[in-house]
Amino acid sequence: MGAFFIFVHMASGNPIGIFDSGIGGLTVFRSIVEQLPGYDYIYLGDNGRAPYGNRSFKTIHQYTWECVQWMFKQGCPLVVLACNTASAKALRTIQQQDLPKKHADKRVLGVIRPTAEVIGNYTQTKEIGVLGTTGTIQSGSYLIEIEHFFPELKVHQQACPLWVPLIENGEYDKPGADYYVQLYLDQLMQQSPDIDTILLACTHYPLLKDKIKAHLPAHVNVVAQGDIVASSLVDYLNRHTEIEQTLTKTGNRQFYTTIDDTATFDHHASLFFNDEVKSEYVDVRECI
Ligand code: DGL
Repeated sequence: MGAFFIFVHMASGNPIGIFDSGIGGLTVFRSIVEQLPGYDYIYLGDNGRAPYGNRSFKTIHQYTWECVQWMFKQGCPLVVLACNTASAKALRTIQQQDLPKKHADKRVLGVIRPTAEVIGNYTQTKEIGVLGTTGTIQSGSYLIEIEHFFPELKVHQQACPLWVPLIENGEYDKPGADYYVQLYLDQLMQQSPDIDTILLACTHYPLLKDKIKAHLPAHVNVVAQGDIVASSLVDYLNRHTEIEQTLTKTGNRQFYTTIDDTATFDHHASLFFNDEVKSEYVDVRECI
């Protein structure tokens, strides 16, 4: 009898890891490769367990930390959580407890702080709306972070729990999506007529951006995070040469997902990434 050989794919080099619960993080990844094209990257979408939005702190931390450790195993010295829900509910524990204990030489960054640092620059009326998952909104993370950088801003929040399921199931461009887009926008805009800027505080939501804009008055700015997070990463790498120097730069990009239907992932991912995506299925729990 011949021996069995099990091929487990490993990424090569020391790529930057980009993580999201599903396909939404591709909206951030796209901006990152535009601003930092030379680096190697791996993208991991935990589509098999998405959405994260309604899950507990404990579960989101557990899932996110499993994915982050899997990315460390692939050689990533640095992982960006391109997910607001994971940034709101898992990042602090990872940075303050998990990394010092197990991976003191690695870094994990989120998307909330870089966004809070600049969002006040977009508004004239000083009243903004923040749209996010239930987890992100209930965590109060944006209220706390924005208060820190722009204490004069009035921040109105609205959870949109049905938007991520619509997007993950490929319904984001269908007419039925309009009903749910309008539902949450109406609830937000009823909070104040002076909101002139709306932050899409979920990396999935840019996929609904055209529909969102169509339901709002023309003077309301709709701000997505991709370019903001990418600029902040450029700045981070300039300031942290000890991390930057460990990253490999051959322009290689690999995509992984925890859902076994990689064909559906590839189809949607290619549309949002604006380039062909060919992903591989991984079981991140195997590495723990
Ligand atoms: N893209 C994630 C975010 O930015 C979506 C979370 C989810 O899976 O519900 O919050």
